[in-house]
Amino acid sequence: MRIYCEKDYDAMSRRAANLISAEVIRRPDCVLGLATGSTPEGTYKQLVAWNQRGDFSFKEVRSVNLDEYRGLAPDHDQSYRYFMQKHLFDHVDIRPENTWVPDGLAEDPAAECARYDELIRSLGYADLQLLGVGRNGHIGFNEPDEDFMKPTHVVDLAENTIDANARFFASRDEVPKQAFTMGIGCIMAARRVLLLASGTNKADAIYNAVCGPITPRCPGSILQLHNDVVLVGDEAALSKLIEAGVCVCG
Ligand code: GLP
Repeated sequence: MRIYCEKDYDAMSRRAANLISAEVIRRPDCVLGLATGSTPEGTYKQLVAWNQRGDFSFKEVRSVNLDEYRGLAPDHDQSYRYFMQKHLFDHVDIRPENTWVPDGLAEDPAAECARYDELIRSLGYADLQLLGVGRNGHIGFNEPDEDFMKPTHVVDLAENTIDANARFFASRDEVPKQAFTMGIGCIMAARRVLLLASGTNKADAIYNAVCGPITPRCPGSILQLHNDVVLVGDEAALSKLIEAGVCVCG
């Protein structure tokens, strides 16, 4: 695992945007696995700026998102489709038909999961999979569990995930209780994984993912078995790795 320890959120975002744009420049028709949450917002902002300046193009890029709340329409302002439009797709030259997010309103959830897995397989899996991490170690919406779930599936969100995401909704009651998520199988099939983390509230999750036992109790720990993971974090998120001597900052 390659670790970039950056001094703050902005530096983390620039580093991540650099790595993503390098991938797109090297492989203009690459498949990007994309993530939502507050962590990658700065990364997307930087990519938008460089794309609008003409530094690189998303014209041939295909993108597949990790997850979507079950029950939210694409135009719901907390849906992950809406997030992607707002923070990236509406501002860059990616073709709308080349962007995929699970359908939160799918009437047959099992069929939607199978369709999404088949779609990702047919694209040849992600060349670069962007990931954030939940405070409980979740990746995508793969929550701590008894087993690693390989396929795309519907997940019951953990109570602490609902708590963490309630800040985006008018009230906790409005947070959906379920989500569609890409499984561990597609995430691990990505050629490269770019894991981002910012803030002290991610320090334990990052330490457990990188140094803890590989266990579905901390889904991010599966990344220890991937042969090309790049972790980009700020000093706060990496503080426990720094303490343990796993990385140095600056
Ligand atoms: C959300 C998303 C994840 C994200 C994580 C952390 O629930 N499903 O993909 O990585 O939680 O979110 P944030 O970046 O806002 O801390």
